[in-house]
Amino acid sequence: MTLTVPAPARVWNLDAIRADFPILQRTVRDGHRLIYLDSAATSQKPRQVLDAERHYYETSNAAVHRGAHQLAEEATECFESARQRIATFVGGAAQELVFTRNATEALNMMAYTFLNATLKKATGSPLPEGADRFVLSAGDEVVVTEMEHHANLVPWQELCDKTGAVLKWIGITDDGRLDIADIGSVITPKTKVVSFSQQSNLLGTITPVDLVADAARAVGALVVLDACQSVPHMPVSVHELNVDVITWSGHKMLGPTGIGCLWARSEILESMPPFLTGGSMIEQVSMNGSTFAPPPQRFEAGVPMVAQAVGLAAACDYLDALTMSAVEEHERVLTGYALAGLQAIPGVRIIGPNDNIDRGSAVSFVLEGVHPHDLGQLLDDQGIAVRVGHHCAWPTCRRLAVPATTRLSTYIYNGQDDLDALFDAVGQAQVFFGVN
Ligand code: ALA
Repeated sequence: MTLTVPAPARVWNLDAIRADFPILQRTVRDGHRLIYLDSAATSQKPRQVLDAERHYYETSNAAVHRGAHQLAEEATECFESARQRIATFVGGAAQELVFTRNATEALNMMAYTFLNATLKKATGSPLPEGADRFVLSAGDEVVVTEMEHHANLVPWQELCDKTGAVLKWIGITDDGRLDIADIGSVITPKTKVVSFSQQSNLLGTITPVDLVADAARAVGALVVLDACQSVPHMPVSVHELNVDVITWSGHKMLGPTGIGCLWARSEILESMPPFLTGGSMIEQVSMNGSTFAPPPQRFEAGVPMVAQAVGLAAACDYLDALTMSAVEEHERVLTGYALAGLQAIPGVRIIGPNDNIDRGSAVSFVLEGVHPHDLGQLLDDQGIAVRVGHHCAWPTCRRLAVPATTRLSTYIYNGQDDLDALFDAVGQAQVFFGVN
């Protein structure tokens, strides 16, 4: 028997990590050190990622999958190696990984898969084998949760509007957990797809993926996972998760903007009709119609984001050198420190789980008597970048009866010094607004 021993984590050298991020060397707002606590929105980029993109543009830039020249060949090689590298990061195979513009586009692709299959079926147009699972009839059900980012809610609302399907959702408890008591009544034999996030961007809650996926599978529904806030922060293995489709963004995991990922089991991808159409995704084209390339090319119309794929592959190298289990542990410690420090300030209320169990590093809070936008501005005056507002999860805010929150979110380059600065600044805001 061969035992697999996890690679030892590199000693967490915060100074060395910070030195890799050029943007962290700058000051903001009259000379304050940049204290970046907004990585759930987008992460900063290490020099290694920036160098990889620059090197690609300086040496091999060309349109991929076309052209007979050496640069086209090299660019294609860079792009496809990057696909392999990124797929390996989540334990998948290259042919199972589709590049999109971001996770929002990947989730739209899934909603449009249902819409397009339904429309094509109605007109008798050819569909890939197995596409019937995407065909909706009036009364079929689409299930999400009440803690979704708008990116995993609005596309499904639109799909239901256009097809007559019914949108249902799993509720949340007062402490920001998924209300699993709801699952049995929400997921029914009419459910065709269940789409939910592994980690809430507003609450930080980590959802019970197995439980939801098992209920979905029991009725034959497709299981789609929004892993935007999990893939950057914890080990994720596509084959350990009992789901059909996983979507995430490159820019939240040290990679460039403009690239997202959609992983799906091969037989799912094979059975999906195309989403965007045009060059590069076809097999044959005549004036009477077209046939389409196999996945993943079927879903990558136009000249794709090659430099971004190269940059994202470098981000995977960077994170794997740290090891994702060490990244997760680093954030777990910081999240515990953030929760304790904030709750020690009278007038602060955590919105979402207030313990450090099954939660990620996005921590939302409200400060009694101070609007989050005012607090955000005061923090910014001291160089502290957080996100304020409804965080593109408006229904979640409504459910928890808060118009907005202040959200801090940490990543590999944050330390306790960043959180100490935040605690001090929140205390000063109380004095400033006279609510202490
Ligand atoms: N989805 C990103 C966030 O939660 C933008 O901030």
